[in-house]
Amino acid sequence: MKYFSNLLYLNVFLPVAFFGKSYFLFLKYLRGFLVMSNTDARLLVNLRVSVHILEKGLTMPRTRLGFGKSRCMELVRLLNICQARELSRTEEYIMAMNLISEYLEFHKAKGYQLDTSLKKLLMDILEPDLVDGRKQIGLDRENFFKYAQSDFELFSKSRRSVRNFSRRCDQDLFRRAVSLANTAPSACNRQAHKVHVVSDSVKIAAILKIQGGANGFGHTIPQIGVLTVDYKCLGRFEEHDGYFNSGLYASSLMYSMHYYEIGSVFLNWSSTLRQERALRELITLSPTETVTVLFAFGVPEDYLRLCRSEKKSLNNTLIEL
Ligand SMILES: Cc1cc2nc3c(=O)[nH]c(=O)nc-3n(C[C@H](O)[C@H](O)[C@H](O)COP(=O)(O)O)c2cc1C
Repeated sequence: MKYFSNLLYLNVFLPVAFFGKSYFLFLKYLRGFLVMSNTDARLLVNLRVSVHILEKGLTMPRTRLGFGKSRCMELVRLLNICQARELSRTEEYIMAMNLISEYLEFHKAKGYQLDTSLKKLLMDILEPDLVDGRKQIGLDRENFFKYAQSDFELFSKSRRSVRNFSRRCDQDLFRRAVSLANTAPSACNRQAHKVHVVSDSVKIAAILKIQGGANGFGHTIPQIGVLTVDYKCLGRFEEHDGYFNSGLYASSLMYSMHYYEIGSVFLNWSSTLRQERALRELITLSPTETVTVLFAFGVPEDYLRLCRSEKKSLNNTLIEL
């Protein structure tokens, strides 16, 4: 009995007393991640992620022919589950159909013989009637930035993550982008964010090795931004606000860079403690600063291949009560 009460105290009362809402948020996250892992929503998001990984493969600066075999097999597995659950008319399913069709066509056009068993799997699951011809995008730089100074609708629809850079951007231009991004709102106008810029190629390579999400295009990245939030600027119970405000700032910066014709892509920083420590050995951060996200930026190549990264429909996003 004493053992259980100690367990309860250590695992529930103490964390709740110390961490309050954060503790419940963590439980919510665990529930979403572990308990709800077999839901339709999880299935569809897994499908979205698999499609995204393969669309990245199709748009790399030097696409490796025959890439993503195990990811294709995972995609087929997910599609089979979708069929069994009557989810084969969802937008994620249709995205996957378009992707498979493009993957097969891409290799055919290059005269590359895909692994026979993989090709059969893909052909068997493909429903040509659902393919509506949406493919990855190929554009020259001038056209990519054609709407950079247009009205907001055209402007925001024209922005996409860039994964193919040619060189560093003009330093003054980047400064102007950061200055414009500073118009972002923040709670109590605290503006706890900082943007650290790394331009040294050795450091960039080391950071990318720690981050791990730029495989296939990391060698083209000329500069990296490290977005941080300083916890000494935050108030009581605001430990999550740091991330929220930083997200708003990141969005503002992303659009500001597009406005100044600087290509960019965020690089996820859901790091482990070891990754965080390794990064801190490469850049100087104050002990109260925490890294929220990284981003690569620079002048895009003359001709760009961009992921389509289909967005959710309004029906799948807006809930009107
Ligand atoms: C927080 C965050 C982290 C991201 N991390 C990566 C990454 O590690 N590697 C990568 O290639 N893209 C990364 N991206 C880019 C997304 O893949 C991209 O924004 C998404 O597919 C939508 O495409 P779009 O930006 O072209 O609209 C990240 C984006 C965000 C917002």
